[in-house]
Amino acid sequence: MKDRTRTGGWARTAGVALLLTVMGAGGAGYAAARGGAPAQAAPSSFSPLDALDEASQACLSCHEMEGMSVIFVDGIEVDVQVDPEAFASSVHAQAGLGCQTCHVGIDDYPHPEVTQTRLQWVLEQQHVCAWCHSAGDDFHLGAHGRALSLGDPDVPNCTTCHGDAHAIQPVATPAFRAGIVDTCASCHADDELMTAHGVRTGTVPSYLAEFHGLTASLLKEKGATIPVAVCSDCHGAHAILPADDPSSSVFVTNLAATCRRCHPDATNAFATAWSMHDNPERHPLVGGIAWFYRIVTGISVLGFLGYIALERAHQRRERTRRGA
Ligand code: HEC
Ligand code: HEC
Ligand code: HEC
Ligand code: HEC
Ligand code: HEC
Ligand code: HEC
Ligand code: HEC
Repeated sequence: MKDRTRTGGWARTAGVALLLTVMGAGGAGYAAARGGAPAQAAPSSFSPLDALDEASQACLSCHEMEGMSVIFVDGIEVDVQVDPEAFASSVHAQAGLGCQTCHVGIDDYPHPEVTQTRLQWVLEQQHVCAWCHSAGDDFHLGAHGRALSLGDPDVPNCTTCHGDAHAIQPVATPAFRAGIVDTCASCHADDELMTAHGVRTGTVPSYLAEFHGLTASLLKEKGATIPVAVCSDCHGAHAILPADDPSSSVFVTNLAATCRRCHPDATNAFATAWSMHDNPERHPLVGGIAWFYRIVTGISVLGFLGYIALERAHQRRERTRRGA
């Protein structure tokens, strides 16, 4: 996957650079609107750990140490070290949550015995997220959440996308946004995994080859904010549904509204005339035209190179003739 996003190719880079020049001013405005102001530096004497409640500090007195682990009933062994600094700077510690807000039922050591498999245990811990976030309920209505409740280990859960449960960061940051495509691609670019689940393959390479995807990968390499659509802008983040589900944000009659989030004038024709994932079955004509252009471009480039070669050969001959 990494390889695929990194191989630029001069033609692609040049094309995107041109497009970026055209949209340059808009992109900068967007970055500023998204909160580009520099964060105020904290006074150096302040340690974020001081802000943690006493109970959490007591938990961390053990859990900051290396080398301890828990073994689940399916034999999976997991390290129980928690990085105090990372936790202290997470959104949750900053909002005043302590360890026991999420880990209810653990007050002391020894802890109650663990009687679940790793997956069951993680899902139980993550049920807590829905106490405070509607994202939790939305997620369970979506394709991933439904498969997860049936015990499918191949779908993402909260921490697959938001990172370590003890270091969760705000989502409205350029860094989080820049990581979304890679997160989806970590599974959706795996054809074998997708075929095993009956999900269409080829969605990641086709995204990376279209306007939004090309621009997003270039901006990501530059570390800039990404205003163009990433996977979750069209599919949603939590209640992600199959495309033929009438409630899906990409269902044919909902698609224009999805585009209008960023293209205020988008009509049904704008939304549906263009094949998002280069689906040749649905859009044989578009596929055909794409191939036509590839061939024409190839022939033009070859012709151009041939022209240069002939021109140079001609000049060399002229020089030799004049020299003689
Ligand atoms: C005396 C050291 C010690 C203290 C204090 C401690 N833990 Fe643990 N914790 C462990 C060890 C060791 C494990 C590994 C499994 C085991 O031995 O139970 C563990 C495992 C865990 C687990 C993994 C699941 C489980 O139940 O085993 C969680 C969650 C956890 N601790 C949370 C906490 C919280 C929350 C606190 C504070 C209220 C805390 N711990 C205090 C040593 C400690
Ligand atoms: C916002 C909720 C939340 C808070 C606050 C929280 N945890 Fe957790 N913790 C989780 C979840 C969810 C998991 C399950 C692992 C996952 O989803 O990646 C987990 C897993 C663990 C584990 C098992 C090892 C692992 O990584 O799976 C330990 C040990 C643990 N937590 C200790 C702590 C300690 C100690 C604190 C306080 C410093 C704390 N937790 C604060 C949600 C939380
Ligand atoms: C497939 C990846 C993915 C999974 C799984 C996921 N999220 Fe998210 N989440 C995102 C993305 C991407 C955003 C950014 C906002 C957006 O694009 O809508 C987000 C935004 C959020 C936000 C802030 C905005 C809001 O909707 O409130 C919260 C809170 C949140 N997620 C919690 C969760 C919880 C809790 C879970 C588990 C039940 C979860 N997420 C599972 C990708 C995911
Ligand atoms: C007791 C309530 C509570 C629980 C439980 C909880 N959170 Fe949060 N969460 C908050 C608060 C408060 C914030 C910071 C304010 C905000 O941005 O909503 C926050 C922020 C977040 C954000 C960043 C949101 C943003 O807009 O940038 C994400 C992502 C998130 N939580 C995910 C999770 C996940 C995943 C879990 C379960 C492991 C979880 N939360 C459990 C209260 C909670
Ligand atoms: C951990 C792997 C993983 C990650 C990460 C992941 N997915 Fe999925 N996704 C799956 C699997 C597996 C399924 C099939 C679930 C099932 O069996 O119904 C699926 C189903 C889907 C579907 C429904 C397809 C259908 O035909 O039913 C869509 C759309 C989708 N994912 C989009 C996304 C997007 C967008 C992201 C990133 C925001 C993402 N996925 C992240 C593994 C993943
Ligand atoms: C600009 C909007 C847009 C973006 C960005 C986008 N998609 Fe899609 N996606 C669609 C539309 C529309 C469909 C359904 C129409 C079609 O089949 O082409 C679709 C279909 C899919 C499907 C098949 C769903 C099914 O039920 O058959 C998957 C899986 C998927 N996309 C994953 C992704 C992933 C992963 C990314 C990011 C790498 C992504 N999409 C980015 C609009 C988008
Ligand atoms: C998250 C915002 C976002 C979403 C959602 C989005 N786009 Fe875009 N798209 C952009 C940006 C930004 C550009 C580049 C600036 C421009 O030309 O407007 C762009 C450019 C394009 C372009 C090429 C240039 C142009 O303006 O003609 C097409 C075609 C396009 N989008 C189609 C779509 C379609 C179809 C959808 C819905 C399925 C969609 N977009 C959804 C942000 C988005």
